Amino acid sequence: MDFVHDVIVRKRDGGELDEPRLRTFVAGVVSGAVPSYQASALLMAMVLRGLSDDETLWLARAMIDSGKTLDLGVLRRPVLDKHSSGGVGDKVTLVLAPLVAACGAVFGKMSGRGLGHTGGTLDKLESIPGFRVKLPQGDFLRQLERIGVAVVSQSERVVPADRLLYALRDVTGTVESDGLIAASIMAKKVASGTSAVALDLKVGRGAFAADLAHAREIGRLCRLIGDACGRPTTCLFSAMEQPLGRAVGNRLEVEEAWQVLSGEGPADVRELVLELAAELLPSADLGLDAGEARARAEAALDDGRAAEHFERWCFVQGGDWRPGQFHRLAGHETEAPQDGFVTRVDALAVGRAAQVAGAGRQTVDDKVDPAAGVLLHHKLGEAVAAGEPLATVFSRDPARRQEAGALLEAAFTLADRPAPAAPLILGRA
Ligand code: URA
Repeated sequence: MDFVHDVIVRKRDGGELDEPRLRTFVAGVVSGAVPSYQASALLMAMVLRGLSDDETLWLARAMIDSGKTLDLGVLRRPVLDKHSSGGVGDKVTLVLAPLVAACGAVFGKMSGRGLGHTGGTLDKLESIPGFRVKLPQGDFLRQLERIGVAVVSQSERVVPADRLLYALRDVTGTVESDGLIAASIMAKKVASGTSAVALDLKVGRGAFAADLAHAREIGRLCRLIGDACGRPTTCLFSAMEQPLGRAVGNRLEVEEAWQVLSGEGPADVRELVLELAAELLPSADLGLDAGEARARAEAALDDGRAAEHFERWCFVQGGDWRPGQFHRLAGHETEAPQDGFVTRVDALAVGRAAQVAGAGRQTVDDKVDPAAGVLLHHKLGEAVAAGEPLATVFSRDPARRQEAGALLEAAFTLADRPAPAAPLILGRA
């Protein structure tokens, strides 16, 4: 298409693309009129030249209009959602979704699958036997009305442009553009009918943004789109130097989420969940401010209501959840080579180890092993004695256990003195 050629050249030379050009491009990607080599070239020009605020917003709007948009207005209640920009060991949705319902609000989410070193919520949920993530829209709505919580797979008809563009970006080195990331995240939120969104934007080794300033810029763009589309969006910036919690891998993470839902579990997971509840619940129709929202969420974790809502949610979506039901696979332990304090647990390396063990995908068509993963016995700041286990990797395959074990060995750094404690919550917007 000559038109696309001109659009590519314009962006390559640093020009701005107007709304009609972006709309025609997006529509052409979905219809097949724009071949993948031209789409890839334009994506690369966008990565190298950047997108203006207007271009980002127009792109998001064109993506929203590329497919079906859901109207959840029949519920007559705000439907809340959160999005995390991809972390290692991030099981927050598994806790936050039933917690929001236990607090009296409605949490509805359309989620994607994990790719690369970060796990996806759907894979975690599907590690519970029988859990159905594909629900017809009517069932999704009825479930939200009945129990206040539903998490389902993204319908193929919602934002089809993102599915096509993301697949290209993934293999052409064009994921890393702030405008493309913001448009991709927010188009899906807006099109799936969400009333208000809390974003958890990760900063650090295991994340898109290596520093806070970069995460703030992605957050600013997401808020710009959210506000323009009438979906109030707040951002929390959280550290992702080390994995969140101690479990990485689908079933292991469900077990850890259950601990947090039961008022126990790792303090960092609980803290992040509570902070996100404090961001999100004020957008519900409950008249709560952030402080009251946090207090209500704390109470629901501690008095068993959040755990009860998790059980109800699993039951209604077909999942057979019984605490303690899972058997562990054979494990390989990585031991501390010396006495000392843990000064680094590289989130990216732990994520890769879990992926090698079978918990993650290399390509979208790969199958994940629900039982594979990594348990961390020590995290930043903790003392360890020579020979004690630092981490255990679980896999069905002895060769994979060895390979993942080598990655885990390199993921840890020990020193004679502890490093200063690093905060988990780095900021909000
Ligand atoms: N998550 C998304 O949904 N899209 C991106 O582009 C990056 C992260």
